[in-house]
Amino acid sequence: MLEEIQEIFIQISKEPLDSLEKTEQFRLRYLGAKGILKDLYQQLKAVKPENKPAVGQALNTLRQEIESKVTAATSSLSAEAEVHQKHDYTRPTPSEGIGTLHPLRLVTQEIMAAFERIGFIFSEGPEIEDDWHNFSALNFPEDHPARDMQDTFFLAPPFAHFSLRTHTSSVQVRVMESETPPIRTISPGRVYRNEAISARAHCFFHQIEGLYIDKHVTMADLIQTLDYFAKTLFGGEVKIRLRPSYFPFTEPSAEVDVSCTLCQSKGCAVCKYTGWLEILGCGMVDPNVLIASGIDTEEYSGFAFGMGVERIAQLKFRVNDLRLYSENDLRFLQQFHL
Ligand code: PHE
Repeated sequence: MLEEIQEIFIQISKEPLDSLEKTEQFRLRYLGAKGILKDLYQQLKAVKPENKPAVGQALNTLRQEIESKVTAATSSLSAEAEVHQKHDYTRPTPSEGIGTLHPLRLVTQEIMAAFERIGFIFSEGPEIEDDWHNFSALNFPEDHPARDMQDTFFLAPPFAHFSLRTHTSSVQVRVMESETPPIRTISPGRVYRNEAISARAHCFFHQIEGLYIDKHVTMADLIQTLDYFAKTLFGGEVKIRLRPSYFPFTEPSAEVDVSCTLCQSKGCAVCKYTGWLEILGCGMVDPNVLIASGIDTEEYSGFAFGMGVERIAQLKFRVNDLRLYSENDLRFLQQFHL
């Protein structure tokens, strides 16, 4: 009989009491009026007197074990049930507010995607830049105003030959130095200029600049690329026009306008009644720039362009105060969605 009791010990240790219902069934099966223990106590009467104490003790231990198992399960399961009653898990939860992408990030992604589709490859470089990559290699004359403290943030001595980059053209120099043509690269990033902060100017903003160098690259390639870009970003109806301009690193240079999408070029406050919106600067890479980066000007030519992300965002989202982009006001940021 001791063996039988031993068996039952093993059996009950395997019983999963994971619901109140199962626990009650378990209790009745073992401890009920017609339960297994009742039966065992009956059998005890027939045990030889000399074995009785041992068997009786084993039976008592078994009963205690079963009772404590039932008590433990009942109390923990009913505590759980109470929690379930207090908390309604079917109630919809308030939204977590996972945030949105910054409007400048959204515009950057859209511009990058347009150029990546035609084979331009992402590149990036440091925001603290040396004189060579920000100015000299880009054909800036010694007395160019951008080299002045008024326009550029220089680091304090002894690092005064470093500045916060004023454009991401510096990244293009780095790409030209480290790669051999053909080169097709697009460089987004933050740039810095020493300007008083107002609705229309900021001491930092974001640029995306592109560079294409290969054999026989001409102005026609540049215009075609920018026309594709303007139509991708602003819609198939949009036209572009180029106005002659000057940059130290391109020759010839041009400013590019798109036809005003707000008034269909009829003239409105945004395009200042001209029908055109300026969006970027561009030109054919000056041979001096190619030479500075070790590219053979007999064999290769290229074009470059650069645009301000805030400017494009302003046209897409009609935001006319630049400061809003860096004030982290959630009421502003939450208005932009993919
Ligand atoms: N780097 C110029 C700027 O910061 C933009 C530009 C890039 C113009 C490439 C022409 C070609 O304004």
